Amino acid sequence: MAKILVLNGPNLGRLGSREPDIYGSMNYNELGAFVREVAAKLGLEADFRQTNSEAELISWLYEAVDGGSHVVLNPAAFTHYSYALRDAAALVSKAGLKLIEVHLSNPHAREEFRHNSVISGVATGVIAGLGARSYELALQAIA
Ligand code: DQA
Repeated sequence: MAKILVLNGPNLGRLGSREPDIYGSMNYNELGAFVREVAAKLGLEADFRQTNSEAELISWLYEAVDGGSHVVLNPAAFTHYSYALRDAAALVSKAGLKLIEVHLSNPHAREEFRHNSVISGVATGVIAGLGARSYELALQAIA
């Protein structure tokens, strides 16, 4: 079974209690269970992780490159300003692996600073605004 890294950036561990009007009531563990279940139905194994650390997220992207794994990435706030994460994400797509950028909310319908993603330019595709379904559609695209 092909392993997919499903990586989540800062503050996504607080899903459920964090701004439920924006991110929904599904908590982080429930989202992880949903993602693993969807992946299994598609014949994929989802390794679902979250970190608040930019360095750790970058090291996980290296892991994807070295292990030949496709990536579903919710970069959270790093989306909007982390050139370091963008450079690491570029290594994934340059290695011929898919990197799908996902967001639970639609950043374009929110504050102006969220309208720009420094990651999208090196992503294979971008899915936003569909809650947990953003992850489901990303996994389908990879499958
Ligand atoms: C997010 C959108 C980002 O703007 C925000 O910083 C997040 C979550 C989303 O999934 O909608 O933390 O990536």
